[in-house]
Amino acid sequence: MGNCSFRADALDQIENTTMSKNNFTFHYVIGRGGFGKVWRVEKKKTGQLYAMKEMSKARIITKRSVNSVMNERKLLAQLKHPFLINMNYAFQDREDLYLICDLLTGGDLRFHIGKKKRFNEEQTKFMIACMIVGLEYMHNNGVIHRDIKPENVVMESNGYVRITDLGIARIWTPENSQDTSGTPGYMAPEVMCRQNHCCAVDYFALGVIGFEFMLGKTLSLQNKSKLRNMKYLMAGALKQLISLIRQINHLSIIKCLQRKPANRLGLNGPNEVKQHVWMKDYNWQALLDKKLPAPYVPEQGDDNFDAKQANGNDPWKEENAELLRQNSLLLRRNSIQNLFSGYYYDVDLLRQQKEEERRQNLANAGGNQAANGPKSSGLSLLPEKALKPIKNNSKAASTASSSFVNTPTAKIQ
Ligand SMILES: Nc1ncnc2c1ncn2[C@@H]1O[C@H](COP(=O)(O)OP(=O)(O)OP(=O)(O)O)[C@@H](O)[C@H]1O
Ligand SMILES: [Mg+2]
Repeated sequence: MGNCSFRADALDQIENTTMSKNNFTFHYVIGRGGFGKVWRVEKKKTGQLYAMKEMSKARIITKRSVNSVMNERKLLAQLKHPFLINMNYAFQDREDLYLICDLLTGGDLRFHIGKKKRFNEEQTKFMIACMIVGLEYMHNNGVIHRDIKPENVVMESNGYVRITDLGIARIWTPENSQDTSGTPGYMAPEVMCRQNHCCAVDYFALGVIGFEFMLGKTLSLQNKSKLRNMKYLMAGALKQLISLIRQINHLSIIKCLQRKPANRLGLNGPNEVKQHVWMKDYNWQALLDKKLPAPYVPEQGDDNFDAKQANGNDPWKEENAELLRQNSLLLRRNSIQNLFSGYYYDVDLLRQQKEEERRQNLANAGGNQAANGPKSSGLSLLPEKALKPIKNNSKAASTASSSFVNTPTAKIQ
């Protein structure tokens, strides 16, 4: 069974950058993450606008999420795609980590569904199609997102949407039953039940979003007292589906919501979803080229976000004030700071390095290299088997304890 590991590559080798928050002018807060705020910032030297995700190290430690944030930075260095929110710089100081990403001014889909209440079929299909293209790229590179939900899908000003927040994304491995992270309501049954899982979990979440957007109702999968009782949970979901089935002609949504991954659309990869009757005739190439006009375009301007929510009080901070204070003191220790070593990324430096390497190769190989094209981007292809779920190793599932259970979206303990 192949492992979908990335090849070490120049893209991820950068050890340092001169970038710091002093290189940016802070405009205002546009979002709230689990570890801090997301700011609209401007790079002083170029005037270019970006989104800056600021993450408090004390919070990260308190939520036992060091692995998670380091993993996110590592994946972002490897994944670049027009339907994902891409990273440009990453750096840190003693208190915080900073991720500088493409700025999207259209607002996230939680904001829009909250405002509009429901979308029509054409609008929903367009947004789902954008997500499929983003997921296809991630899955083809061996990465499962695992936290697809409206908050993690952000709109460009032209109505195209992109996937963000790789906080709990993972490179697929066959034994991943202990990784029980995600957001209840969008989390596939096999993740809830601590079973091995594959990219089909992301199509389940897509099904939930499609359902939510077209019907203007959320699927009630979140009965906390009965969360572990899958029979109850899925029977409830099924009942809702049946009662609403007359309103939906879109069997693909229902097929994405199949409890058993073996029956779920998307198990065999994104083509299966793309070729399903609901999506079959979609102009995928025009979508990929961003030439299809989006059927829903956000209001033009910069305030497609809930400023109250982004700037409001954070109850988690209040509840954990003492623990946070203690963990802030820990940040004085080098051993603690070392946990974050390597949290650097600088797209400009990497470009320069790559160019330098290319020139060097050309000089060394007397031009042979030019005929072979540039060095690989380092992305490895997903082995076909990665698309299949692996039979659950119940022993491992029952004994393993996830180190990520305390991420903000991980509610299963
Ligand atoms: N590049 C961006 N452009 C515009 N808004 C963004 C961008 N990135 C994030 N946001 C906004 O900020 C919110 C929080 O960001 P994000 O989802 O990355 O943080 P998070 O949920 O805390 O992640 P994590 O789970 O890693 O803590 C998003 O829901 C979105 O509204
Ligand atoms: Mg998020």
